[in-house]
Amino acid sequence: MKIALFSYKSYDKEWFDSHLAGTGFEINYFRVELDESTAAYAQGNEVVCAFVNDDLSRPVIARLSELGVKMIALRCAGFNNVDLEAAGEYGLPVFRVPEYSPHAVAEHAVALILGLNRKTHKAYNRVRDGNFSLSRLIGFNLHGKTVGVLGTGKIGKVFADLMHGFGCNILLYDKFPDTSLAKKGYQYVDLGTLLKQSDILSLHIPLMAETAHIINRATLSMMKDNAMLINTSRGGLINTEHAIDALRKKKLGYLGIDVYEQEEGVFFHNLQEQIVDDETLAILMSFPNVLITAHQAFLTREALDEITRITLKNISDFQNGLTNENQVGAPK
Ligand code: NAI
Repeated sequence: MKIALFSYKSYDKEWFDSHLAGTGFEINYFRVELDESTAAYAQGNEVVCAFVNDDLSRPVIARLSELGVKMIALRCAGFNNVDLEAAGEYGLPVFRVPEYSPHAVAEHAVALILGLNRKTHKAYNRVRDGNFSLSRLIGFNLHGKTVGVLGTGKIGKVFADLMHGFGCNILLYDKFPDTSLAKKGYQYVDLGTLLKQSDILSLHIPLMAETAHIINRATLSMMKDNAMLINTSRGGLINTEHAIDALRKKKLGYLGIDVYEQEEGVFFHNLQEQIVDDETLAILMSFPNVLITAHQAFLTREALDEITRITLKNISDFQNGLTNENQVGAPK
């Protein structure tokens, strides 16, 4: 079975090549992101393996189907970039990797919190430059603070446990609460209470029509003054312009993001020698209380092992005419 793997980075090739033995699969690696203009690379491959910023909208799916592609294997959990209805209509099953390491993402959310709070990235640069001054490096104790977890699925749960370990009070909100979490001393509240009472709010819900811009002018105004907002989920959960406004007004105290609304074409690329033509991102980068990483929360060795193993198993199941719980789009 031939697989066209889009948006590949050196670590993708390293991991997939090391897991290929005995599968009978052949992988053709393409650096380009998948979109209408690059879909033609998939010709001759039965499977397209795609990542978070590959475009799997209706016209791309139609083109892939025309080229003979039979299956879409996402090597990520989120599938907001896939038009599932179109995939169903064109008979292309879509598989994903729903859980590869909730710990990887939850731990990165904690890294953003610690970085923003204790300013280790700034201290590192100062010390390297011979500046041993401590001015403007004051942080706060996490112990005793209230942490709001928006979305208590696989990642949100691990994140809640980690923050509980720091001695934080944990408030939760989810459309489908998990009652077992109450036994740990965590409390489910309504969204309004979560926003009003959290010193730190971390987003762990998927991006869908109903969650798009869930953080906007209205919800930001309900947050505590000087609160910290963390997003390791999907950029579209936050209305970035509204967040910038809240930062300007000193309503929002800190913003830590691993994902950004307009990250396609920017995140995952080395643009060091280029002018990044994104004024919103430039404004965000100019704030001293904003910490941005480029969608790296998943990037641990353990997570890469799981992503590779499960993606290849999904393809193998498809080849053998099987389905499994990782399928998100059922052909019509
Ligand atoms: P999950 O499916 O286990 O949990 C999501 C939770 O959100 C569920 O409990 C669900 O009930 C809740 N939810 C859904 N809609 C809601 C709404 N409207 N209001 C309140 N709660 C709602 O997902 P998991 O594995 O915890 O991942 C969460 C997100 O993290 C993914 O959707 C993905 O976008 C993101 N992610 C980011 C990564 C990164 O590298 N930055 C890597 C992996 C995932």
